[in-house]
Amino acid sequence: MEAKRVLITRDIPEDGIKILHDHGFLIEINKENRPLTAEELNLKAKQADFLICTLADKIDQTFIGQNLHLKLITNFAVGVNNIDVDYALKNNIWIGNTPDILTDATAEIALGLMLVSMRRFKSAHQAILDETFQGFAPKGYLGRTPHHKTLGIIGMGRIGLKMAEMCRDAFKMKVIYTTQNTLYDGFDRVELDELLKQSDVISLHCPLTDKTRNLLSGNKFNLLKSDVTIINTARGEVINQDDLMVFLKNNPQSFAGLDVTSPEPLPKNHPLIKVENVYILPHIGSATVETRGEMSKLCAENILAYGTNKEMNSIMKPHP
Ligand code: GLV
Repeated sequence: MEAKRVLITRDIPEDGIKILHDHGFLIEINKENRPLTAEELNLKAKQADFLICTLADKIDQTFIGQNLHLKLITNFAVGVNNIDVDYALKNNIWIGNTPDILTDATAEIALGLMLVSMRRFKSAHQAILDETFQGFAPKGYLGRTPHHKTLGIIGMGRIGLKMAEMCRDAFKMKVIYTTQNTLYDGFDRVELDELLKQSDVISLHCPLTDKTRNLLSGNKFNLLKSDVTIINTARGEVINQDDLMVFLKNNPQSFAGLDVTSPEPLPKNHPLIKVENVYILPHIGSATVETRGEMSKLCAENILAYGTNKEMNSIMKPHP
């Protein structure tokens, strides 16, 4: 049979599904509101040539080893830390992801979390819910302004750069950054420890790798300002959550705005949920109608590009 069967592990927006239908692909979609178990994924992948998966699907050596027939695996995400990319490529399986199109949406969430944190939306809104708001209070609900403060970007890729530009333009923030790869004019690159010492706001945008796992942990917290705001829209594992909880408790003027945690979701009654100076979102960086539609399309385009010479920065091909 011609290789045209696609397994989609979650119910993604129609945009890309329509493209695949129009090109004659046979599509199986997991319509349940949960990720497939490892066994289900493995079983269903056996009937597929292409896989569209999410960051909840563990595409490790075991899975790949048992599914060497797959032609291309595309993540419905830009981060690919759930996929053993090297191993897949070594085994001649192409890898796709969804870069660029979710940059703005994710940077918006980082910016939003910064404002929520610095202007204390959480406790202010709680006063409304608790009906303890007594009317305008000159000294009530005082937060801090981001204007002219120092923003430290950890991981100056596309999303980090967008966050940096928005904060510079909207709030005249001084931006410093650390990064593995690229250098940007107009912002100062510093060593990580320096960034941690100087920043009023720290925003994490690095990919999760062996090098960045637990990047913010242990003694690194001793370098932070006591009223720092920490924003994480990258991956939960980049911060040691136990150490973060200790820091937040010992430094009541500090705040963390987290779109990502480890694990996701946090188990019921996880102590982090109850920490007062933390605000947690359910991993909604790319969650706009527009962006999720574009991500669906790009996953389909990645599949259509399989076996062609088309160069796309959303595709990694095995080395010839
Ligand atoms: C979401 O976290 C993504 O990597 O796209």
